[in-house]
Parts: sequence; C-alpha cells; structure tokens
Amino acid sequence: MARGIPKKPPPPSSGARAPGTGPAPTMPRMQRGLPQKMPIRGVKHVIAVASGKGGVGKSTTAVNLAMAIAGMNKRVGILDADIFGPSIPRLMNLSGEPELTGTEDRLVPLTNFGVKCMSMGFLVGEDAPVVWRGLMVMKALQQLLHQVDWGDLDLLVIDMPPGTGDTQLTISQQIPLSGVVIVSTPQDIALIDARKGVNMFKKVNVPILGIVQNMSLHICSNCNHESHIFGDGGAERTAKEMDMDFLGDVALHAEICQLSDKGQPVVVARPESKHTQYYKAIASKIADKLWPPSSATTTTTTTISTPSSPSSS
Ligand SMILES: Nc1ncnc2c1ncn2[C@@H]1O[C@H](COP(=O)(O)OP(=O)(O)OP(=O)(O)O)[C@@H](O)[C@H]1O
Ligand SMILES: [Mg+2]
Ligand SMILES: [Zn+2]
Repeated sequence: MARGIPKKPPPPSSGARAPGTGPAPTMPRMQRGLPQKMPIRGVKHVIAVASGKGGVGKSTTAVNLAMAIAGMNKRVGILDADIFGPSIPRLMNLSGEPELTGTEDRLVPLTNFGVKCMSMGFLVGEDAPVVWRGLMVMKALQQLLHQVDWGDLDLLVIDMPPGTGDTQLTISQQIPLSGVVIVSTPQDIALIDARKGVNMFKKVNVPILGIVQNMSLHICSNCNHESHIFGDGGAERTAKEMDMDFLGDVALHAEICQLSDKGQPVVVARPESKHTQYYKAIASKIADKLWPPSSATTTTTTTISTPSSPSSS
C-alpha cells in the first residue's frame, strides 16, 4: 500500500506485551477502580471501529460510516487514534496544523465534508516517523481524547489502530464508549484476531455493536464479475458463534481503494454507487442502536440490499 504512512515500530523489547499475549494488564487497575471514565465534552455518543488484525479496512470503514451517518443529519466527528500510522489526514484529504482555542488550549479539529477530524497526523505530519514509545504515546492519546474542542457532536467515530494493545484498553477505560464496530476480512487468520478484539472489548464492558465483513466479495472493475476470492460468510459465522450482530458486507472494489487514496470517501464521491449502499445499510443499523427508532417512524434498514452472498453455514 503505497500510502506513505509510517510503519508501526516493533513493540518495545521490555515492559510491554506483544498484542494478544499474556494477561490483560489493566485488570488490576480496573479492579482498583482507576481511572474514572470521563466523557468527551459535547459529544453524545462515541463508537470505536476496531479489528484484531491490521490492514483489514478499519479506517476506510470508519470514514465511510462516519460520512453515511453525517448524511443522516447527525453532527459527526472522527478521531484517529492510530498514533503510529494515522490514516485520517489522507482519507479525509486534510492537512495542516490544528489551531488552539484561545482560552483553554484545546485543539480545534480540521473539517472536511462537514465532518470534524483530529489526528496525530495533523500534529506531526503524515510522513514523520513517530518514534515515541510507551508513556509518550499515552500522553499523545490523552490529548487527543480530552483536549480537542469538538463543539457539539451527536457521534464521534474513533478509528483504532490494529490489535488489542494499550491504545484500545486506554480508550475503553477512559471514555464511555457506546460501542465498538469490529471489522474483519473473511479469512480465518483475520477472524481469529477479530475474536481476540471482541473478547478484549467484552472484558472491559464495551458493548459490541457488531461485525462488518470487508473485502469478502470481489467485484471486478472491468466486467463487474463477482467472486468470493477469500471465501465467504466467515465473519457472519463468527458473529453467530460469538453472539453478536452481523452488520453487513462491504465488497472489495478498486474504486473504494482509489478514491480513498485521493481523499474522497466513496460515500461522498459516489453517492449512487453500490458501495455507498453497503455503507449506508451498515450505518443505519448502527444508528438504530445508538438512536433507537421511536414509535414515530421505523427505518427500513433490513430491506436495503447488500452484496449477494450465498448463505453460508
Ligand atoms: N472494500 C474495499 N475495497 C477495496 N479496497 C479497500 C476496501 N477496504 C479497504 N481497502 C483498502 O485496503 C487498504 C487498507 O485499508 P485501511 O487502511 O482502511 O485498513 P486498516 O484496517 O485501517 O489498516 P491499519 O490496520 O493499518 O490501520 C487501503 O489501501 C484501502 O484503500
Ligand atoms: Mg487504519
Ligand atoms: Zn473482470
């Protein structure tokens, strides 16, 4: 992926756990009742988009879901929690240094497509190698979590780094999350890591909103031929096994990748496309969970068509 995003450095040799190994280190802290969760000022709901494995399409999914929900007349922001490999500047076509509010020294988000964004990439530049470790990273994360002036938001979408490490735990423990969306590709190897992610969030009592399967169905950009190059139904099966909702499929299509690289979320750039339909269908399922449809009008999420995939078992 020639996106010029700094590679994540290897885990520090001591004092830290490789992702997915060893006991969850913060359980003792939790049992001591520390730290207190602190809501983000002005923000009604926070959801995280996470995965166990890297490169499965979290950031792409986070951005397009955010755009789809913004299209439902909600005030939406995106927080890029990937300190080492921020993607939001590129995906949202944003650059420049955030200003500070006059009185409180809070960071002012940058805005594109009507969505407010904050990312480490704005603070250090997308190509700058971030060599911080441990506490430095945690400090940066604290700032991104608590010192951004979001104004009033209905929803903040957090684009998580891959894995089940300190960032995920810190965020889960420090701010009240309305839930987490797990993204996975259909391969077993990604699903195994997705399970780890689900288990971690369950352990810290974050509701699982469901799982999104990305890149299961390949749609050829020349002939529109459809094929399940990585197998199909894996995420749906995992969802069933782990008793969580399957939120939907997003097909693998060159256009999604090409537009993303140009900073044009497909939901914005191709509002009439099939891809936008997938994202909107997933977004409305999430919206129904965050803002349960009242007696007034019921939405029709279930009737929106998603990629045809032979039902699996
Ligand atoms: N449905 C899709 N169709 C085509 N390309 C996709 C799709 N979803 C994601 N991609 C591409 O796959 C690559 C990885 O996606 P993305 O950066 O969103 O993954 P990620 O899980 O956030 O990665 P990381 O773990 O590094 O944060 C990108 O080049 C993106 O454009
Ligand atoms: Mg990412
Ligand atoms: Zn073809």
